[in-house]
Amino acid sequence: MKTLGESGPAQLGTGETVPVPHPFARFWRKGGILDTRVFDRAERHRLYKAGLQPPDQYLEKAYTLTCSGCILSCRSGTGEIMSFTPNSYGADPAPGAVSITKVTVPALSEMKRQGKPISALTAYDYPTARLVDECGIDLLLVGDSLAMVVLGQENTLSVTVDEMIHHTRAVRRAVRRTLVVADMPFGSYHGSIREGLANAVRFVKEAGAEAVKVEGPRFDLVRELTRAQIPVIGHLGLTPQSVHRMGGYRVQARTADEVSELRDDALALARAGAGAVVLEGIPREVAATITSELPVPTIGIGAGPDCDGQILVFHDLVNLTFAPAAKFVRRYGDAAAAMRTAIEHYREDVEHRAFPSDGESYHLPAPTRRILRTGSEYEDADAIVNRDALPDWGETGKD
Ligand code: KIV
Repeated sequence: MKTLGESGPAQLGTGETVPVPHPFARFWRKGGILDTRVFDRAERHRLYKAGLQPPDQYLEKAYTLTCSGCILSCRSGTGEIMSFTPNSYGADPAPGAVSITKVTVPALSEMKRQGKPISALTAYDYPTARLVDECGIDLLLVGDSLAMVVLGQENTLSVTVDEMIHHTRAVRRAVRRTLVVADMPFGSYHGSIREGLANAVRFVKEAGAEAVKVEGPRFDLVRELTRAQIPVIGHLGLTPQSVHRMGGYRVQARTADEVSELRDDALALARAGAGAVVLEGIPREVAATITSELPVPTIGIGAGPDCDGQILVFHDLVNLTFAPAAKFVRRYGDAAAAMRTAIEHYREDVEHRAFPSDGESYHLPAPTRRILRTGSEYEDADAIVNRDALPDWGETGKD
């Protein structure tokens, strides 16, 4: 049996137990509390003072994991309470398990140096961010594409800083390993640098963003943000916030002059401090050249396979956009179909009174039923009543 020591993480398989060497342990799993009822604080303190370990049955109960592939590490906190922090990344802890190391902006450059492709996706809410994080994606962008794919707007221009912050906060709560980058929306950095800096600070302070992304050749802004210790990701090529100037979403950098300008811009962004540069909607050859010239990673979307990393919009990946896919999009799943099927089955069941079943209902306790003389029509009501001794609505009561 593995022991969860203070020295490092332990990796556990399905149903494995782990003894914890400290009575103050609080135990967490996948970002949620697995069991805080181990001891109340006073009891834990008493035990600690007496040099005792918690009784076995508590250990058994508290420390039996049923999830697969939890990686647990011990973090020494305030000096009073020792907490065990979950780092459960990737469904399969076997070979190929995703490392628990937090991805940072400097880590992206290290990945480039080592020739490791960077995987990136957008996400805009807690459940999708959680999936992205748990599946080991390196970079999660809370993109201003939010405006289109989540809020149903025609383009990205209308989304506000407040809306972006609202969604970034939800994402940040879900994420343990992935680097969280917030997109600065149109208008939030197009005035003065001071204003851009103030808005970027909001993303860090109020939303927990670990980097911000800005579109276009904004070298001075990137320099100032970097100076203010805010990592910046640049974005060049087809920059959707410039849709009106570009006259639509068109592939950029097609002439020799445009290619040369884009190469200069990318280099200048890197020199100004950008930690990576998103290249969108440009010919593969141009992206390959820039990738080979830049000291920091390029992350492509519609820019061919030679970039240091790739990013896609989550809703494109799983077919939730209700629109034909662009050439560069590959659909890896059909969430729309899966959701449609589930919704239709639910509607049919409700219409046919097939949902909820008796087993999905709560029941009166037997004594109350006897007093009220109700419930006798349910054949196995007694068994159900016993099974349904639920403390609150939170528990499922399912067998
Ligand atoms: O907003 C967005 O989704 C983006 C991309 C680079 C995917 O900017």
